[in-house]
Amino acid sequence: MPTRFRPALLWLAPVLLASPLVAAALQAAPPAPVTLPALTFTSPDAARGAQRSAGCAGCHGAGGVSGEETVPSLAGQVASYTRQQLSAYRAKVRGDSTMQNVAARLTDQDIADIAAHFAALAPGPAWKGADAAVRAQGAALYAKGDPARNLIACSVCHGAGGGGSDSLILPSITNLAPAYAEGTLAEYRETVPYAHPSPQAMHAAAQGLTDEELTALAAYLSSLK
Ligand code: HEC
Ligand code: HEC
Repeated sequence: MPTRFRPALLWLAPVLLASPLVAAALQAAPPAPVTLPALTFTSPDAARGAQRSAGCAGCHGAGGVSGEETVPSLAGQVASYTRQQLSAYRAKVRGDSTMQNVAARLTDQDIADIAAHFAALAPGPAWKGADAAVRAQGAALYAKGDPARNLIACSVCHGAGGGGSDSLILPSITNLAPAYAEGTLAEYRETVPYAHPSPQAMHAAAQGLTDEELTALAAYLSSLK
């Protein structure tokens, strides 16, 4: 008898809503049900990955360190995330026709080898030029969020230093190309990303952010070593 349980649920509601994570997730729209096919590969070979990724440097920079503000670096990125994104482009689940064409030429083994190659490279230097006060605003949001507005601290998932997690498929977000970071955060604010085990996560995290805060966070991430 469902009515019997109603008082208990009402009692629980304020407790649940007091948790910013839960509250933000509740406000978010339901995720689009997208599943990427699992990749099939044997033990990744970074040396082979280096050969297969010679053509990437033209856009992503030598050694996977981008000098272009709109293009993400690949050096030092967690392998599980690079695999997932290449697989998402190949399945045309992540938009961007350039990367969809690049990924269309890759086998599952290529993807695993390339991801292992870039994960082993040293990340590039921090981007310079962001205003110190803007960066500080981003740093505060990153570390603490804003509980009064149900904004989740980014560090909860990405780690205090922004290093991400290979086992949880959480990207490293240090040294992010600033214009790419801002554009990607704006996209997450409007849409639920694809294919991730927790597709709501970034949408929920970005939902309440103002344009000014997106700029501040991008400035901070680009300066994060
Ligand atoms: C012609 C330019 C170009 C080439 C060549 C290219 N990329 Fe990209 N790549 C881009 C751009 C631009 C983006 C950002 C697209 C977006 O916003 O989805 C991107 C995004 C990515 C991402 C997502 C990164 C992230 O942080 O989410 C990965 C992974 C990637 N590329 C891997 C590769 C690999 C591996 C190669 C070579 C096999 C390659 N790319 C070749 C331009 C290029
Ligand atoms: C609840 C966990 C969670 C929180 C909190 C979170 N993120 Fe994320 N973030 C993720 C996940 C998962 C992805 C990968 C999404 C995907 O591609 O499906 C991601 C991806 C990203 C990316 C894309 C990286 C790339 O290379 O393209 C950026 C940038 C980012 N997050 C920044 C932030 C910022 C800034 C905050 C705080 C406002 C934040 N995240 C809070 C889980 C989280």
